Amino acid sequence: MNYLVTGGAGFIGSHVCERLIKNGHKVVCLDNFDDLYPKSIKIENVNVLKENPRFQLITGDVCDIDNNIDLLESKKIETVIHIAGRSGTQKANKNPLDFINSNIKATVSILESMKEAEIKKIVYLSTSSVYGHSSKAPFEEHTILENPDSVHTASKQSAEKFLEMYNQIHDINTIILRVFSVFGPNQPPESGIYQFVKANLTNQSIALYGEGNIGRDYTYISDIVDGVILSCDYLNKNIIKKCEIFNLGSGQSDTIVDILTEIEKITGKKTNTFAKPTPNKNTAPGFANIDKASKILKYNPQVPLSVGLKNTIEWIKSKENL
Ligand SMILES: NC(=O)c1ccc[n+]([C@@H]2O[C@H](COP(=O)([O-])OP(=O)(O)OC[C@H]3O[C@@H](n4cnc5c(N)ncnc54)[C@H](O)[C@@H]3O)[C@@H](O)[C@H]2O)c1
Repeated sequence: MNYLVTGGAGFIGSHVCERLIKNGHKVVCLDNFDDLYPKSIKIENVNVLKENPRFQLITGDVCDIDNNIDLLESKKIETVIHIAGRSGTQKANKNPLDFINSNIKATVSILESMKEAEIKKIVYLSTSSVYGHSSKAPFEEHTILENPDSVHTASKQSAEKFLEMYNQIHDINTIILRVFSVFGPNQPPESGIYQFVKANLTNQSIALYGEGNIGRDYTYISDIVDGVILSCDYLNKNIIKKCEIFNLGSGQSDTIVDILTEIEKITGKKTNTFAKPTPNKNTAPGFANIDKASKILKYNPQVPLSVGLKNTIEWIKSKENL
């Protein structure tokens, strides 16, 4: 099949592109190389694919509707996997318009392009942040979402609403995946687990927010990619009259202290931490109820935290020459 993957050079997108190519599909990867972290890292993420004739990397912004329509039509795209977006509560509160562009305008632009080009299938990577900080864990898809308490949550909830609207009005078959925290190779250097591993390996001190005892749901990247691919398979076999929403997570709660303990077990070294107050109240505890994805998509995360962390540590060691 022919896929368009937006944000395909980023952390999750690059793995999705790789799996689609491995499964024999054609992939157009559209990425604008935003400034959240260096372009060179994203180019490196898709480097392994660049010689493959079924893979094409296009530099461009999803907000450019004419370019999208041209790509959708000329590349005969059948399914869009919309991953381009931004996350980060503090960054979003500081630069709300960037987040409105990346999360809302980009989503409406791809939907409008699909409407024009008559492309009827989309998988969208949303986030567990739509549940806000006051929903009761484990989070379930049918929960009525709280009013957003940050720009990030507001932008992701709005994107979901537009997807639901285009599904209802323009018959675009839509799957929304509410993804919980993901880790693994290609994760951005600024992300939490990367920073903790690097601090551990280089004997640097690192801030531990609160007491490090807020439980969250961490999933290894290959399990999330499984969920995305299973969603595409489902979309290709079913007419989706009402937009389907699935949680993708591990279904388990782990704290930063649990993660540090695992890292230390693997490296055999202690991590030097110092306490800092939690910077935002949106650092919500919570984990996914994955029953719906398990039942309908046959999603079944396979990689235990210890194995995922071992792979991640090996990758960070090679990246940082440690
Ligand atoms: N990584 C996680 O733990 C996690 C968890 C839940 C949800 N998500 C969501 O999944 C998506 C991808 O996350 P990621 O970790 O891979 O982030 P990432 O920053 O590594 O990847 C996002 C990619 O999208 C591109 N992009 C952004 N705006 C664009 C635009 N307008 N046009 C074209 N390309 C654009 C960026 O250049 C980047 O390569 C984000 O929307 C994020 O909110 C991520």
